[in-house]
Amino acid sequence: MNTIENLKWRYATKKFDPAKRVSKENLEQLKEAVNLTASSYGLQPYKVLIIENPEIREKLKEASWGQPQITDSSYLFLFCNFTAVGDKEVDGYLKLRADINNQNPDDSKDYGDMMKSQMSSLSPEQMAAWTSKQTYIALGTLMVAAAEIKIDVCPMEGFDKEQYDKILGLKDMGLTSSVLGAVGYRDENDPYLVFRKTRKPNSEIFKTI
Ligand SMILES: Cc1cc2nc3c(=O)[nH]c(=O)nc-3n(C[C@H](O)[C@H](O)[C@H](O)COP(=O)(O)O)c2cc1C
Repeated sequence: MNTIENLKWRYATKKFDPAKRVSKENLEQLKEAVNLTASSYGLQPYKVLIIENPEIREKLKEASWGQPQITDSSYLFLFCNFTAVGDKEVDGYLKLRADINNQNPDDSKDYGDMMKSQMSSLSPEQMAAWTSKQTYIALGTLMVAAAEIKIDVCPMEGFDKEQYDKILGLKDMGLTSSVLGAVGYRDENDPYLVFRKTRKPNSEIFKTI
């Protein structure tokens, strides 16, 4: 199973080689993998900003306790969750699903009503927590997909979300920053490369009942 080897190969890269750039072709593959990620009801309540602009990245680095991955990786995938999901998003999803499957969206009215009632029962805090959770699944996909093509990712939540939201004007877009994946190639002198994987034994993680 290649996935196990890939997961052993990957690590949370602290030092990227800024001279080695991830190709546009690989970038498109990673975007496709992220987009294929499962989400609750299939609603995909997030956007992924792919940040290349060096000036913006300098500002974001300051809001990330100076972590060098922010400026030295090839791309920053910033997963931003929706602050609200309402009727418009549910109807949009059902229309897309109906179009793709050549069906009538009215056939899913009951299902849509159930989703809408579920969404409207959430407080703003519960909504943000729920939409943010979805982004972490997508980050996981990004890491696994990238490892398969020997591209490094540092998953990151060590940043000031309020600052990020301000710098990028996310509030006006109905978004808030959730989690980051810095994507690039490791610097072979990254001191963290010498560390072996630190994981609990399976017997501690899994329990068969
Ligand atoms: C959600 C999340 C947030 C993380 N935030 C940071 C971060 O801000 N900076 C960093 O250098 N590493 C960060 N890490 C990396 C973890 O420390 C790392 O994944 C963990 O120690 C396991 O090591 P490995 O990924 O190299 O196997 C984060 C990891 C996850 C999953």
